[in-house]
Amino acid sequence: MTGRLQGKVFIITGANRGIGKAIAGEFLRAGALVVISGRDLKRLESARLEFENMGYAPISIAADLCDPEDCKKLIRSTVDHFGKIHGLVNNAGLPARGRIEHIDSALFAKIVEGNLNTAVNCTRAVLPELIKSKGSVIFLSSVAAIQGFPNAAAYSTAKIGLERFAEALRIEMHHQRVHVGILRPGLVNPPADKRVLTGDGSFKPVSHRGHQSQKSVAKAVLRMVLKRRNRITMTPAGRFLSAMKWLAPGLVRFILIRTQFSSRYETTEDQ
Ligand SMILES: NC(=O)c1ccc[n+]([C@@H]2O[C@H](COP(=O)([O-])OP(=O)(O)OC[C@H]3O[C@@H](n4cnc5c(N)ncnc54)[C@H](OP(=O)(O)O)[C@@H]3O)[C@@H](O)[C@H]2O)c1
Repeated sequence: MTGRLQGKVFIITGANRGIGKAIAGEFLRAGALVVISGRDLKRLESARLEFENMGYAPISIAADLCDPEDCKKLIRSTVDHFGKIHGLVNNAGLPARGRIEHIDSALFAKIVEGNLNTAVNCTRAVLPELIKSKGSVIFLSSVAAIQGFPNAAAYSTAKIGLERFAEALRIEMHHQRVHVGILRPGLVNPPADKRVLTGDGSFKPVSHRGHQSQKSVAKAVLRMVLKRRNRITMTPAGRFLSAMKWLAPGLVRFILIRTQFSSRYETTEDQ
């Protein structure tokens, strides 16, 4: 698939680390002109240099995607630099855990904003460019959008909202031929510095092992763009959950009730 995106301009949000950085690498290898974005300038610059040392030339633009004005600036700066935009990968997100009784309303709103409004703001800002290019917009959802999970209600709520937003967008953009893709990764192997927001408002390390690599998610995003796929649910566990949710929702609920206090949902070290 190398070279299949030659000269195409893609913005990858949340690309100064984690899955977003892996997606940026995959798109650069496929020949795309890539804009990496994030808030932390130091990490952003270090990611850009890392790619530069590999022989690529992405540009980096800092933006807080909770701020619609920052999103407009991100799009404007990209168009100023490259003249056009062929795709946006809405990867930026705010991983968060905590049982509902531990998450106050301000924290709940922050988690929804970090996982939903970020993508909505950025998508609204880029749409005129994607209509011109008949481009792609990809949403990084999660298996947590298939079912509300214990210890992750706010995150699940945001990801379900993200999918409904993307589905409505797909219909509205049908005649303009803008491709809208929804990718649901399973649990990804966390890097050593991975942190999630917890009920007391602090970020804590995670102790879980994942079911897939960042690279496998990055490859799936690339495949989704190239084949203009609508939806991909990743990992056998994710696909099994999706099927069971249709076939036997009561059984899914029963299993989650029985296992809700098990370590598999207590993914932060001391929650
Ligand atoms: N890891 C998993 O197991 C998993 C599973 C399924 C789905 N996903 C989804 O995949 C995506 C990436 O996950 P990840 O594990 O790589 O997350 P991560 O390591 O926490 O990275 C999140 C990225 O988003 C950026 N970001 C967060 N808030 C932002 C904001 N307001 N404005 C701009 N950038 C912002 C962060 O950079 P700054 O902090 O510098 O802004 C960072 O680059 C997320 O959407 C997540 O929900 C992850």
